[in-house]
Amino acid sequence: MTYPGGKGSSFRNIISMMPPHHVYIETHVGSGAVLKNKKPAEYSIAIDIDPVPLYALLCGHDPTVIRVNADAVETLRKLEWTGGELVYADPPYVLSARKSQRPIYKHEYTDEQHQELLSTLLDVPALVMVSGYRCELYDDMLSEWRREDFSASTRQGTAIESVWCNFPDTGERHDYRYIGDNYRARERIKRKEQRWVKRLTEMPDIERERLLRNLLGTVSPEQAMTAYADVFGDAPSSSAPTAGGITTDDDAAASPPMTVRAAKTQRAAPTAGDDDTRSSASQSNT
Ligand SMILES: C[S@@+](CC[C@H](N)C(=O)[O-])C[C@H]1O[C@@H](n2cnc3c(N)ncnc32)[C@H](O)[C@@H]1O
Repeated sequence: MTYPGGKGSSFRNIISMMPPHHVYIETHVGSGAVLKNKKPAEYSIAIDIDPVPLYALLCGHDPTVIRVNADAVETLRKLEWTGGELVYADPPYVLSARKSQRPIYKHEYTDEQHQELLSTLLDVPALVMVSGYRCELYDDMLSEWRREDFSASTRQGTAIESVWCNFPDTGERHDYRYIGDNYRARERIKRKEQRWVKRLTEMPDIERERLLRNLLGTVSPEQAMTAYADVFGDAPSSSAPTAGGITTDDDAAASPPMTVRAAKTQRAAPTAGDDDTRSSASQSNT
């Protein structure tokens, strides 16, 4: 079933914009396409005023997801902010900005509600992303925020969807699996990664060890773990990485599963299901 305004085709673009975070808060969660496809945070809060999509579609989902059946603004105002939160809001689109003005949700938003939501989000002491179609209200109230536009398919054809962010693009992401503006770009990245992994796995062990140490030696252990997992499709063994983020052969004896050497025998995990051809990033106002 397609959910009107659902992020069934564009969740990849949205997830690819998300910066690292520990707590994920999604208001207006609807079918939960973004929440269900992103890498989980330590815990997440899913908010929707309509209990039907919330409970039907998140039923049986991750126990780290707290579901809140209430008004988004009221809930945001009650939350305690401790740092590390990312809020993603996908309210019903402003009616005047839609191709068809016919209401599609049980709970639509008036312009006053949009205004109230945006003023609340402007005050939230966290990273914030908001989806919508460009219109005067959003352009005015979020004029200081970065905006990314991409084309997305709707029942009425293709539309340019925007995401406003209250943070700069630092190049760091919470989840790298969907990077690439569209299907073709994601396929190209996947093929490039497979070529790299093939070359790495075919290299003599000692050369690979040297190359990886040189490549990863300049970054923090956390970054090295992420880079390693991106290449080999799994995290290194649970033992702390040694300098340069690579487990040594000594570590391998203690915890054999994922040394560089063991990784040689592993195939790269396929990039997550990526069969969508419909959305493609087009422009950014940065
Ligand atoms: C654009 S849809 C969200 C689509 C969703 N991102 C998805 O992928 O399916 C808007 C959602 O906002 C919810 N909603 C409407 N008014 C709300 C309010 N005051 N507080 C919280 N959620 C609300 C609707 O029930 C609907 O599920």
